[in-house]
Amino acid sequence: MVYKLAIFVALAALVGTVSANVCTDAGLTTTDGFIPHPTNCSMYISCYGGQPFEVACPVGYNFNPELLKCDSKYVCVENTCPPTGIVYQPVEGSCTDYTLCIGGAAYPQQCEAGLSFDPATLKCIPAEEAQCVDNECDPAIPPPQFFVNPFDCTIFFICDEHFLPVEFQCANGTIFDTAVNDCVLGDTCPTTETTTTTVVDTTTTTGDTTTTEETTTTEEVTPTP
Ligand SMILES: *[C@@H]1O[C@H](CO)[C@@H](O)[C@H](O)[C@H]1NC(C)=O
Ligand SMILES: *[C@@H]1O[C@H](CO)[C@@H](O)[C@H](O)[C@H]1NC(C)=O
Repeated sequence: MVYKLAIFVALAALVGTVSANVCTDAGLTTTDGFIPHPTNCSMYISCYGGQPFEVACPVGYNFNPELLKCDSKYVCVENTCPPTGIVYQPVEGSCTDYTLCIGGAAYPQQCEAGLSFDPATLKCIPAEEAQCVDNECDPAIPPPQFFVNPFDCTIFFICDEHFLPVEFQCANGTIFDTAVNDCVLGDTCPTTETTTTTVVDTTTTTGDTTTTEETTTTEEVTPTP
């Protein structure tokens, strides 16, 4: 009797490990591939025949979950996934990236073009609604570096020495002008968007369908020295 129970417990444990197979969870049942290691960024999981094998990257390399290979330039992002369950998490410093957590493993994801990840609803929503501002600080550009909030031209950012944006608000009655990198008199934001957006507005009026397509093109402001 006790023996039978032991077998049952052993079987349950085996079923448990099978259902927690990170490869099959990631859809790698018949196809082979690599997935990020759930706890160690300098390692990865090689899925072969549906079975997971832990592999360490060469010293000085980390597993880049986008390129799915060991990368000497990839900086690890700490895995903040809970150990169990399917959970969506925002990625700090990014408007479009988010993390899909499956059983403690982090799978980097990205919202489709024109959408931003909303930390409140944990969904990709239209960028205009989310009003999330990406870090446009470019390490290739020497300081000082400025950029304007694409949703509110009275707010601008100065990049600090770590290429992180520090937010500033223009004084009342002024708006940020990217041509001079300063707040200038004015109260109407230019209608140019920072990204190319295509607004398809379908208006159906009685018996006749009008489709207006309005394209706003990026206006690159290149300051001349
Ligand atoms: C991650 O794996 C590497 C290679 O196996 C090992 O040297 C390192 O100590 C591990 N790091 C952690 C935090 O476990
Ligand atoms: C800015 O202008 C608004 C509306 O004109 C006014 O209510 C507000 O008090 C002003 N703020 C400052 C800091 O002057």
